[in-house]
Amino acid sequence: MNIEVLKSGSTIGRRQILGVALYDDFTAANLAPLPSSIAALVSMHIPRENFKAKKGKTLVVPLADGDIMCVVLAGLGSRDEVRADDHRLAAYHIVRAAAERGASSVSIAMPEASEYQVSRAVGEAAALARYRFKKYQSPDDEDRFAAPENVALLDGNERALADGFTIGSCQCYARDLANEPGNVINPEVLEKIARDLALESGLKISVIDHEQLASRGMNALLAVGKGSAVPPRLIHLEYAPESPVASAALVGKGITFDSGGLDIKPSEAMLTMKGDKTGACVVMGAVKAAAALRLPVRIHAIIGAAENMPGGSAYRPDDVIKAYNGKTIEVNNTDAEGRLTLADALAYACEQKPDFVIDIATLTGACAVALGDTTAGLFTNDDGFAGDFLAAAATSGERFWKLPMDDENLRRKIKSSVADLINSAGRYGGAITAAMFLENFVEKGRPWIHLDIAAADFVKEPYSYYVKGATAYGMRAITSYLISRANGDIGRGL
Ligand code: BES
Ligand code: MN
Ligand code: ZN
Repeated sequence: MNIEVLKSGSTIGRRQILGVALYDDFTAANLAPLPSSIAALVSMHIPRENFKAKKGKTLVVPLADGDIMCVVLAGLGSRDEVRADDHRLAAYHIVRAAAERGASSVSIAMPEASEYQVSRAVGEAAALARYRFKKYQSPDDEDRFAAPENVALLDGNERALADGFTIGSCQCYARDLANEPGNVINPEVLEKIARDLALESGLKISVIDHEQLASRGMNALLAVGKGSAVPPRLIHLEYAPESPVASAALVGKGITFDSGGLDIKPSEAMLTMKGDKTGACVVMGAVKAAAALRLPVRIHAIIGAAENMPGGSAYRPDDVIKAYNGKTIEVNNTDAEGRLTLADALAYACEQKPDFVIDIATLTGACAVALGDTTAGLFTNDDGFAGDFLAAAATSGERFWKLPMDDENLRRKIKSSVADLINSAGRYGGAITAAMFLENFVEKGRPWIHLDIAAADFVKEPYSYYVKGATAYGMRAITSYLISRANGDIGRGL
């Protein structure tokens, strides 16, 4: 794959697919990057097809000109309201049009291409547009799909374009993992994949197996894995650059399949639960990206890997478990398993003494009910940290919304009559009570953000720059925040 910048003054030249992104106030002059005879032809199509350059809309003009297959116009919407995510989507449509036609070269002209955020968005989109998950399907002879080999951006920022492509590719790595079914990725296989990642990206890795989980008192993670034929484990990847300016712990929920356990889920709710390891996939993608970008931030990527199954040795409702930090938990619902695995993983993460902790999890259906499936929930013990994170996330195109943690009435509901805590507190405020539960396992005073990506982890129909399936939601936001920490430019994701 070759992703490059075309120098100022040149047109986008002769490639198989020529893409132009346009604001809705565009005129014929905005087609200047196209060879003039082609621009003339395209201008005739615009009124004929009533193309208005609205956000997300495209016009494909096929050409009979030898090796140029078509021109793709992609709308950015209004100039005054444009965000980097609109550039991301327009670039996605252009590169996707190339991929679907099996074109190997594509060039893009886009307003503000030289801006860091715009170039990075184009690089990310170029990677996202190459994505599909077809490994289990027999080939179809009408299918021309091929990931384009050459993508060029007119007047782009070279570094940002390359960084964007790295980030987008790592997001696709995470999507590939999340899309794998539970019969392919179980906790043992996830460990193997993490070992491969460590080898390839130069990371340290240590794994706490189920015997060590027991001897170290990580009984909450252990309990969740008890019903499965494949034992749970805690996976710790570490990226240790030479002179780090900050240190992070990224904690991912790694339930390779969530059947609900003995509190078994009804069939429709169980479908897509292969995606319950998405948090783990995201932190693996983020540490892979950080290593590839050589960010001067030390990163502990920590995954509690388990399969939640209703086997003969499964943990039960009414069980009382002592977590790694010594707090006791009464289990009143085996389907509230994520917070149990995160309890031990978060306590372990805090022992690494990172400057900040971010956990990411497909944790509660309640979060999806509150915010929908295209916004994820954010919870924190440090509003300043959350503000910086949200500012960095905004540049990534991933939406997060902060939910409150100060309702003492809700906090009361996670108290147990037989143990310190209960693992599920009813329907009302379910995303918040889950976050409050987690807070018990985060060391006091350590800046912490919890991201609930339930439902945002998976699109049921193609949406925006995603094909059906896993999105690895949160991967770009977390990476943007790490970049901002690396550059000391907190919050802008620069
Ligand atoms: N993995 C689920 C949450 C989930 C739901 C993720 C929908 C993605 C889409 C989680 O383990 C779960 O089962 N949560 C329960 C919690 C309840 C038992 C307190 C839920 O949301 O119903
Ligand atoms: Mn569950
Ligand atoms: Zn779950």
